[in-house]
Amino acid sequence: MLRTIDDARFWDGIARKYATSRIKDMPGYQRSIERTRKLLSNSDTVLEIGCGTGTTALKLAPFVRRIVGSDVSTEMVAIAREKALALGCQQAEFTVAAAESSPGSDGSYDAVLAFNLLHLISDRPSTLARIHRLLKPGGLFVSKTPCLSEMNPLIRVAVPLMRFVGKAPFVSLFAAPALEAEIAGAGFTIDERERHGTGPKDARIFIVARKPG
Ligand SMILES: C[S@@+](CC[C@H](N)C(=O)[O-])C[C@H]1O[C@@H](n2cnc3c(N)ncnc32)[C@H](O)[C@@H]1O
Repeated sequence: MLRTIDDARFWDGIARKYATSRIKDMPGYQRSIERTRKLLSNSDTVLEIGCGTGTTALKLAPFVRRIVGSDVSTEMVAIAREKALALGCQQAEFTVAAAESSPGSDGSYDAVLAFNLLHLISDRPSTLARIHRLLKPGGLFVSKTPCLSEMNPLIRVAVPLMRFVGKAPFVSLFAAPALEAEIAGAGFTIDERERHGTGPKDARIFIVARKPG
């Protein structure tokens, strides 16, 4: 829990800067948005965990019945709410919550989304169990995750150093097969896996998993 509070502080501190930074891999981002949009329908109730400043939730909102964005950072959520208000978006709402205590009642969502988040979660088994409970039978868990251990080996040294000086949040290094095994181990079947990072060194795995019906 202490780690989650520290991480919330870290993300609060960079939220305003994060909101104005450009998406580094725009073609990869657009690919993920398009792919996700095709998986959703206009009758769906959707949860996006680790929603950040709400960019993705607000893009998907017109295509679903309702989307809830949640994030551990109060500042990120404040920005997401400002953006929803500015857009006049009625289908999206935003709330502060750590991933392992994501909002909603059991079996209430058609889909749960987690983009650029799972590598930042220290207790992934609890988070995956929570997502599984929140989904309806047959519901989808769609995630996109940087697999940092497949990237530059220097990252193994750089991340702990940056964390030590307060310049990085908790970050977990794993490869795609390990993440896939964790998701399957939480009771999901894996429907699809795609690589959505378009740069040669961008090892992001896009996984579509399903809670068995
Ligand atoms: C790299 S940003 C990604 C934001 C957004 N999903 C995107 O793809 O642009 C990670 C986000 O996860 C949130 N986050 C980090 N740890 C979290 C946790 N334990 N529970 C919920 N959200 C968390 C951060 O506050 C931040 O907004």
